[in-house]
Amino acid sequence: MSESLKLGIAGLGTVGTGLLQLLREHGPRLAQSLGRQIEVAGVSARTRDKKRGVSLEGLRWFDTAESLAADPAIDVFVELIGGDEGTPRRAVEAALRAGKAVVTANKALLARHGSELAELAEKAGVALNFEAAVAGGIPIIKTLREALAGNQIRRVYGILNGTCNYILTQMQQEQRSFDDVLREAQAKGYAEADPTFDIDGFDTAHKLALLTSLAFGTRVAFDEIDVEGIRTITQADIEAADDLGYRIKLLGVALMTESGIEQRVHPAMVPKHSAIAEISGVTNCVAIDGDSVGNLLLAGPGAGAGPTASAVMSDILDVARGGSPHPFGVPAARLKAYSRARLGRHQGAYYVRLSLFDRPGAMAGSAGRMGERGVSLESIVQRRPRGARPGIDARPTLGTPTTVILITHETTEAAIRDALEAIHKDGQVSEKPQMIRIEPL
Ligand SMILES: NC(=O)c1ccc[n+]([C@@H]2O[C@H](COP(=O)([O-])OP(=O)(O)OC[C@H]3O[C@@H](n4cnc5c(N)ncnc54)[C@H](OP(=O)(O)O)[C@@H]3O)[C@@H](O)[C@H]2O)c1
Repeated sequence: MSESLKLGIAGLGTVGTGLLQLLREHGPRLAQSLGRQIEVAGVSARTRDKKRGVSLEGLRWFDTAESLAADPAIDVFVELIGGDEGTPRRAVEAALRAGKAVVTANKALLARHGSELAELAEKAGVALNFEAAVAGGIPIIKTLREALAGNQIRRVYGILNGTCNYILTQMQQEQRSFDDVLREAQAKGYAEADPTFDIDGFDTAHKLALLTSLAFGTRVAFDEIDVEGIRTITQADIEAADDLGYRIKLLGVALMTESGIEQRVHPAMVPKHSAIAEISGVTNCVAIDGDSVGNLLLAGPGAGAGPTASAVMSDILDVARGGSPHPFGVPAARLKAYSRARLGRHQGAYYVRLSLFDRPGAMAGSAGRMGERGVSLESIVQRRPRGARPGIDARPTLGTPTTVILITHETTEAAIRDALEAIHKDGQVSEKPQMIRIEPL
């Protein structure tokens, strides 16, 4: 057998302990097939005496991740702490500077500093692998970097946050409100006590930034993403979408256009019978439109100890086999400058929900505002709450708000936004109009 590969693992939470577990279960088999042992030469976390559900007996403890990263006894620094600054960043940089390969699951760090870290890794001639950073157990990084390298990719998009998909799925299947489902998700451990990061779209944006770079060969550009979360989605939207033949999903979309790249995270309407609409609960998926391969959809568990450790392990095995691929598929120095397409120029159809005061001229006035900006309408439907019985339940009375759903033909985002602002200013609606993009699939 050749010399063993020595790991330094920093971070012993969900993913770190999952990796230790996987190494214990599969280490001997993997060593047999690799012809090389994989050994844990050191570990580090914040609190030494914490109960972790796996034994740390016999493992060398390091008080800081930075000291572990630079220790001469390790070959690979495995960063499973999380966060884009401070300890994880310093430790990863220290490891790369010391000529050690790095394996990380840290999307936040890579979304912020991915291009620079890739340069550092290439300068040192070592690997910087991050399969677990996007969509957990789905092998999307290597799929884009290697398996689809021969394609020109037009669009990559997906459901990249299990918490949001769980909430939207429950809202749809159980006709419950956003707040109600969020509370339940927190109690079950699917959502953090502070859910901002997930439900406001930033977690999806971190992952999208990495997919965009891999798909289009551009520098990682997290700050160029247009981000909207799912807080504004109501039961009325879920029901109207269902009746119109759609599901609402939080998508991360990177699209190559003639005027640059659109990178956007937002709730989107997808046809109810499309494969992506069927992705329910905490499951993730990534879809790719490539010129040669056509349309590809990969789906699976996007988080959790086992799936994430599986992805981390595949990165470690790549290092054990030798070689250090360019982290983003092309040499970091050749990554193109990111060119952003303005969202105002986005072309698409839109779903609009208005709480329109029931009074003469309100509907015509609103449709007129659309017409003035060249927005033509495919349909207008006045909706009563689901379950309301015609002739039995109270009809909306004059002057009270009533829900009106509009579907537009293809238009520009600037035109629809401008029209909705005018409608709001006219005082014909009781609340800010809701607008959801319809994603063509
Ligand atoms: N959980 C998932 O399903 C999942 C999926 C994909 C990617 N990821 C990514 O994987 C990484 C780890 O996530 P996780 O869910 O395993 O997190 P976690 O359960 O919160 O664990 C974080 C670990 O980092 C340690 N830590 C925190 N600050 C530290 C510091 N300054 N120095 C050394 N260690 C420190 C903590 O130590 P103590 O235990 O002593 O507090 C803990 O062991 C993150 O980048 C995350 O985005 C997670």
